[in-house]
Amino acid sequence: MRLSFDEQGTGPAVVLLHGFPLDRSMWSSQLGILSNHHRVIAPDLRGHGQSPTPPGPYPMEDLADDVIETLDAAGVEPPYVVGGLSMGGYVALAMAERHPDRLRGLMLLNTRAGADQPEAAANRQAKAAALEQEGSTESLTAMVELLIPETTRNSRPELVDHVVAMIRQTSAVGAAGALRGMAMRPDRLDVLRRLAVPLVVIAGASDAIVPEPEARAMAEAAHHADFIVIPEAGHLTPMEAPGATNTAIRSFLDRLT
Ligand code: MLT
Repeated sequence: MRLSFDEQGTGPAVVLLHGFPLDRSMWSSQLGILSNHHRVIAPDLRGHGQSPTPPGPYPMEDLADDVIETLDAAGVEPPYVVGGLSMGGYVALAMAERHPDRLRGLMLLNTRAGADQPEAAANRQAKAAALEQEGSTESLTAMVELLIPETTRNSRPELVDHVVAMIRQTSAVGAAGALRGMAMRPDRLDVLRRLAVPLVVIAGASDAIVPEPEARAMAEAAHHADFIVIPEAGHLTPMEAPGATNTAIRSFLDRLT
């Protein structure tokens, strides 16, 4: 499936995959800076933003194949660096497993390689069913409290507004498809053990969704990995701490060229 995407700059390609239930606009503070030396492509994953929203579930493998199809159609030559935040990281890991030869480097932000515990998977299925019944993602806006720490919610209301707007724009069908797909995903720590390209893992010190040890485990599994904790950031490091996140991403990209 072909996806909608933003694209900026020329040079080695960098692909940025957003989290759930957000869209490509979460990378707006990265596109300009990174495009000074790179061709940056940020798609809306299936069921999110302006991309098509077929009925779910959306296995991470299908989301990964959508990205590949979209890059091929746009003439983006592999190998590329793929970066994903949270659900985007699950998709990036599926790309690394299915298409390792297409990767030049991997950036995993605020994400994990482990599968859901049975209770977490059951909660996702229940939430998907509830969203389908509600016919809207309004109830998902409460996630803002998990996505953004309280201090930042108080000091940066515009950030909260942006996140809420992204959530509201995601349809119930799209969000339910992604929830069911995330519930199905396998453990991919082995993908990192086999990873042949450099990896950077970026975590938020106050991430309420992915605790630091889970992020650290990914860096420890790989042979060539950097592990960077962004202080005073929660789950959305690129939005909450764009300066520190961009520095971490740029120094990783600089080392690859
Ligand atoms: C995300 O930010 O993409 C989600 O929180 C991921 C998840 O629910 O596991």
